[in-house]
Amino acid sequence: MVGPGSIDPWSSEQSTDYERIIKQFGLTPVDVGSLPNPGMLHRRGIVFAHRDLDVITGCMSKGDPFGVLTGLMPSGRMHLGHSMVIEQVRWFQEQGADVSVAVADLEALATRGTSLSNGRETALHEYVLNYAALGLDPDKTDVYFQSSRPEVQRLGFTLGKRTNLSELEAIYGFGGETNLAHVQAPLVQVGDIVHPQLDDFGGLRPIVVPVGVDQDPHLRLTRDISQKTNWFNVKKRKSGGLTLALSVQEGNQKEMGVFEDGGIDMEARNKLIAKLVESISELGFSDIKSNPKHGTIEIPGATMSDRFTIRMQALLIERELGGLGLIPPCSTYHRFAVGMTGDKMSSSKPESTIFMDDEIESMEKKVKRAISGGQPTVEEHRRLGGDITKDVAYQYLQFFFEREDASLEEIKSEYESGRMLAGEVKQICIDRATEWLIDLKEKRAQLEESVKDFLAPDAI
Ligand code: TRP
Repeated sequence: MVGPGSIDPWSSEQSTDYERIIKQFGLTPVDVGSLPNPGMLHRRGIVFAHRDLDVITGCMSKGDPFGVLTGLMPSGRMHLGHSMVIEQVRWFQEQGADVSVAVADLEALATRGTSLSNGRETALHEYVLNYAALGLDPDKTDVYFQSSRPEVQRLGFTLGKRTNLSELEAIYGFGGETNLAHVQAPLVQVGDIVHPQLDDFGGLRPIVVPVGVDQDPHLRLTRDISQKTNWFNVKKRKSGGLTLALSVQEGNQKEMGVFEDGGIDMEARNKLIAKLVESISELGFSDIKSNPKHGTIEIPGATMSDRFTIRMQALLIERELGGLGLIPPCSTYHRFAVGMTGDKMSSSKPESTIFMDDEIESMEKKVKRAISGGQPTVEEHRRLGGDITKDVAYQYLQFFFEREDASLEEIKSEYESGRMLAGEVKQICIDRATEWLIDLKEKRAQLEESVKDFLAPDAI
């Protein structure tokens, strides 16, 4: 079920009209040139859009701390589609991120009926083991369970005050018959995404969440809620520069210098404004005009690129005064790999999916049956060439198995020129997939005992 203009994160339908998605959801296309050491999925246009990724690349270039958060639904077997997120998590980790992994055992209970104990088993032996085999660093990775991290649930509960049923109806298409556990699951996910910023989990720093577009509703909800909690907003000033404005809300009147009757407590207000002005001047801005009565501070000399630094300063003050001080999460979006049979890759359709622990013979059968972009006859193929946009085997090389750009380019040009036949592309895919699966299997066997090293203390 889905509201107008929305994507249902729990549906098996997937839209692949990425241009439309960018426009409709207000995402920004990824500019590969702006990334330091772009990874394979960036270079190939598979990670195609983002929100606020520049905040993260800013941290990378300055060596400032940032985190990456991902979540897994512990139901079913892990397949190739899942590995795409891990590839990105690993890339962020290599660029300096700390990593938090949420085992969405409460969500699996709510939406799939998976018991907590089955969820735990699946998470550890299926997902975390594969994450280890895919190369995450146990020293910089913390896996936790939604059900055993009270802070996540508490945030889900308290941040619930910042939204209402109509918003959830609009985002997720919930209605009167929706199960309440299902309504709570997205709020727990808001807690997942926000909690690494709490002082006990690494403190104030940007967090990036790499996802498929199906998860964007959760990110929109989290960004919206985080912004609503902010005590100070930093906006573009009409006549140039930036303006910092107080946001008076339930629970912060006293700190904002507002009396219970709504009048302004000028003494408290002046003190607050002076504190903010002092911390902004510490950043090197000298021309600062404040209007304590309106609760605004104007910084004509600041540019949009100073916005983040000023916001961080304001968030620190907000925390000092007792607020949550949350940065809205950043996110990246990847394209979906097609299923072998041309539809969505899903654990419930084993014939369309390659699983992380598939036997070689079984993988081989699926690739041989996969939809190809070859022409009906060899003669036509030699003349017209193959179509990579339809060829599943080629796309699997591009998304997963062929890590060398030059080799991939060569396959592409050979195939498109008709020199290479669809069967030959399939055979290359099978060869590379064989190496890939065998390597992963060996790593899983080596790392079985290391799963516990990935667990946060509250997950043991
Ligand atoms: N909802 C996600 C899924 O269906 C799992 C998840 C839970 C998640 N918490 C998260 C994903 C936080 C990203 C970030 O797979």
